[in-house]
Amino acid sequence: ENPALIDTFGRVATDLRVSLTDRCNLRCTYCMPAEGLDWMPGEQVLSDDELVRLVRIAVERLGVTDIRLTGGEPLLRAGLEEIVARITALSPRPKLSMTTNGIGLARRAAGLAEAGLNRINVSLDTIDPETFVKITRRDRLSHVLAGLAAARDAGMAPVKVNAVLMRGVNEAEAVPLLKFCLAEGYHLRFIEQMPLDAQHGWNRGEMITAAEILAKLEASFELTPFPAARGGAPAERWLVDGGPGDVGVIASVTRPFCAACERTRLTADGAVRSCLFSNDETDLRSLARAGARDEEIADAWRATMWGKLAGHEINDAGFAQPIRPMSAIGG
Ligand code: GTP
Ligand code: 5AD
Ligand code: SF4
Repeated sequence: ENPALIDTFGRVATDLRVSLTDRCNLRCTYCMPAEGLDWMPGEQVLSDDELVRLVRIAVERLGVTDIRLTGGEPLLRAGLEEIVARITALSPRPKLSMTTNGIGLARRAAGLAEAGLNRINVSLDTIDPETFVKITRRDRLSHVLAGLAAARDAGMAPVKVNAVLMRGVNEAEAVPLLKFCLAEGYHLRFIEQMPLDAQHGWNRGEMITAAEILAKLEASFELTPFPAARGGAPAERWLVDGGPGDVGVIASVTRPFCAACERTRLTADGAVRSCLFSNDETDLRSLARAGARDEEIADAWRATMWGKLAGHEINDAGFAQPIRPMSAIGG
């Protein structure tokens, strides 16, 4: 029996994305409505002990080597630093990273690095304060910029920036964002908007495609293919003006990378998912609370991943969004 998380297409999931909470302190228009969502009730959210146990099972029994903390907004999770320390104390020690909106990161980056966090990706769709308010419905750009600088100063290299471009909103920001990130030493990646918003308002025509993003950048920069293997990474990368700076594009919709997917996901309420876009999930929280042994939980996790589909079906007729929005899965 193979102990790893394999599927019927021969892919092996070594990368676990853990959502720590479905809550957020921003209200990005491409993610959720202004009033927020009905957050998960507290008793459904995994306790720290439950969460660390499930992560331990993934590391000890299922071959997971890389863990990413997500949300919602993971900085809103009480006791985050303690969770980081407990995960990085596992054996074999996993590489640990986090994807955050950066609010509150300025005063916590050093402590997170000290607790063992290896890397941070920060969402930043614009460097213009007014456009920031339009997208996130909060006036917090300066907090995010301070958070980014603090992550860099804490030595969590490379610090990556995720930017979603939207037609008529921030599409003019491609070049200014890249100039900013090159100057600051951040690794910028542009992301095609996916149909994962809670409002179900995604519309193909409003998505700025990878081809459009590259055309915008090539008007100001010379892009050459990045000279290293991509592996299972979502981002395709290019050197900018000969390097060393680079830029990435995560073209989930127009250039899907599902065939090389290495990811498994755990939601804040303890469900394992084999894909962002599949509704097929297994409730490990209930299993754990019913007294299941580690190996029973590991088996349920393996069975879920065995059922992983070939890929998302965004480009197929009849595609339907998953029931959970992005903020309740962990991007
Ligand atoms: P790095 O290891 O730092 O490159 O991490 P990452 O790019 O995988 O992580 P991050 O959380 O920063 O994700 C960036 C974007 O990639 C987000 O919009 C994610 O939703 C998207 N993404 C991550 N994993 C998947 C996936 O399995 N499928 C799709 N379609 N998109 C994904
Ligand atoms: N499509 C693409 N990216 C999204 N993100 C949030 N919602 C979407 C969406 N519908 C991005 C965030 C963050 C990352 C984890 O996912 O901006 O950077
Ligand atoms: Fe919050 Fe991220 Fe959703 Fe924006 S995209 S509202 S930062 S969870």
